[in-house]
Amino acid sequence: MKNEMKLEFSAVSENEAFARVSVGAFAAQLDPNMDELTELKTVVSEAVTNAIIHGYHENPASTIIIMVQIDSDAIEISIKDNGAGIDNIDKAREPLFTTKPELERSGMGFTIMENFMDEVEITSEPGRGTTVYMKKKLARRRQSLFN
Ligand SMILES: Nc1ncnc2c1ncn2[C@@H]1O[C@H](COP(=O)(O)OP(=O)(O)OP(=O)(O)O)[C@@H](O)[C@H]1O
Ligand SMILES: [Mg+2]
Repeated sequence: MKNEMKLEFSAVSENEAFARVSVGAFAAQLDPNMDELTELKTVVSEAVTNAIIHGYHENPASTIIIMVQIDSDAIEISIKDNGAGIDNIDKAREPLFTTKPELERSGMGFTIMENFMDEVEITSEPGRGTTVYMKKKLARRRQSLFN
């Protein structure tokens, strides 16, 4: 059965924890193992932090939208901002690439998302915003006895 949810919230760093815990709670219906749950929460944190810092340059008047869809064994997450956008997506995905070295960013956010998820698609338009879509298939522990 498909099940989906949508969250819209102010782009402030206080809401990063809210976002990761909310997505984790929704994903709990899929009975993820501890590693999977940690990975899902981490990628949400990374994408939300990117939206706040890079997309909106920490303007609290702006909003982030998260949509999550779960199926029997897979989760799809999209995280959207209407902020600055990304000029060169291929470059942005490279490990250690950051446009904010002065803030001690390490340029590893997208690399972490790629390592933890099966699919990461970035769509972005300079001046209009960015959407990060991610998908992950989870281990099917519950059905192991009967399927
Ligand atoms: N939502 C976004 N809006 C605009 N630019 C973005 C967005 N997300 C990422 N970027 C751009 O892509 C670059 C790489 O992002 P990534 O998350 O990999 O590294 P970082 O955020 O710079 O550092 P870290 O995530 O390790 O703290 C960023 O430096 C920024 O230029
Ligand atoms: Mg980042």
